[in-house]
Amino acid sequence: MEAGHGDNPVKPLIRTLRGEVLDRPPFWFMRQAGRYLPEYRALRAEAGSFLDLVLNPEFAIEVTLQPLRRFHMDAAILFSDILIVPYALGQSLAFLEGEGPVLDPIEGRSGLSRLDSDLVSTRIAPVLETVRGVRAALDSQTALIGFCGGVWTVASYMIAGRGGDDQAAAKSFAYRDNEGFSDLLECLESATLAYCLAQIEAGAEAIQIFESWASNLPEPLFERAVIAPTARLTAHIRERAPGIPVIGFPRGAGGALARYVERTGVDAVSLDTGVPLGWARETLPPSLALQGNLDPLHVVAGGEGMIAEARRIREVLQGRPHVFNLGHGFVPGTPVAHVEALADFLHRPL
Ligand code: CP3
Repeated sequence: MEAGHGDNPVKPLIRTLRGEVLDRPPFWFMRQAGRYLPEYRALRAEAGSFLDLVLNPEFAIEVTLQPLRRFHMDAAILFSDILIVPYALGQSLAFLEGEGPVLDPIEGRSGLSRLDSDLVSTRIAPVLETVRGVRAALDSQTALIGFCGGVWTVASYMIAGRGGDDQAAAKSFAYRDNEGFSDLLECLESATLAYCLAQIEAGAEAIQIFESWASNLPEPLFERAVIAPTARLTAHIRERAPGIPVIGFPRGAGGALARYVERTGVDAVSLDTGVPLGWARETLPPSLALQGNLDPLHVVAGGEGMIAEARRIREVLQGRPHVFNLGHGFVPGTPVAHVEALADFLHRPL
């Protein structure tokens, strides 16, 4: 597999992720496709459920492209979800209105034995069709980002059967059944690698690893469930798809962020809103691209405050490879006009 199918790396996002400093940092937004857009809500209603939307390539291609038509970001991100991997392994998955994702929780060995790696390639096929369709629709300057969840984050949804703030179920599983937890991480890691490589083969030009629940982990667990699998995933992607940059997003990692960067070998790191930028600028390796980190709630508020904060972020990171983004995804009620104003600002050099 070759980077960008042999294209020159001319796309601003890819150049930046490889360590170049551009006059105008490229930008995209986490959850740029989603409920704040009326055209998304219309298509979601037509599809029936969120999962039906993700698994229908025609609709998923359209949803991926919707925000680009309005705001002309430097990248599209595949419209899918991190929980497609457990679904692909045969775990039952539904997205309930107002509740978020619900899975059949893995409480022990019997839950583990229900996972079936043989299902993966068939179940991810529609997502790969979406990747091919989006890539074909993009112009020569706009990159396509593929993604997966971090193994720990996805495992914590698989074990608890739902999201939550403390990952108590996943931690208890890990402390109680060392071997069973290793089996789950291993199974998930190999499905995740296959899923990323398949996205790259279908046309993804960078991969973001969303480790959304990286906060509040004791060091040994952080090492075992976050750093080690991410390091292997990144190394395998580099080996099998040289030139495809990997962006790590260990949300909430705090004091463990520098070690995450050093040990995983990611090309870029996405900073959550809480990461002080002066610290990141001074501490993280100078060639490492930094992505982030506007508070999504600033975009809900909009106005001068939002622009001043976006300007501050660009100023602090000037001279470093920087991809402008949010510190986490857009929230559903974000006014479209505020996103428009932000994109206008980001299209101009400082
Ligand atoms: O635009 C994009 O960013 C690409 C698509 C994308 C989605 N989810 C679409 C989605 C991406 C990259 C994700 C990643 C994802 N999914 C994460 C990691 C990022 C993060 O937010 O921390 C996580 C933890 C999930 C799991 C998930 N999916 C949750 C917890 C929820 C429900 C909460 C919510 O925000 O609604 C989802 C559903 C989901 N995934 C929606 C979208 C647009 C909303 C679905 C809808 O009701 O229409």
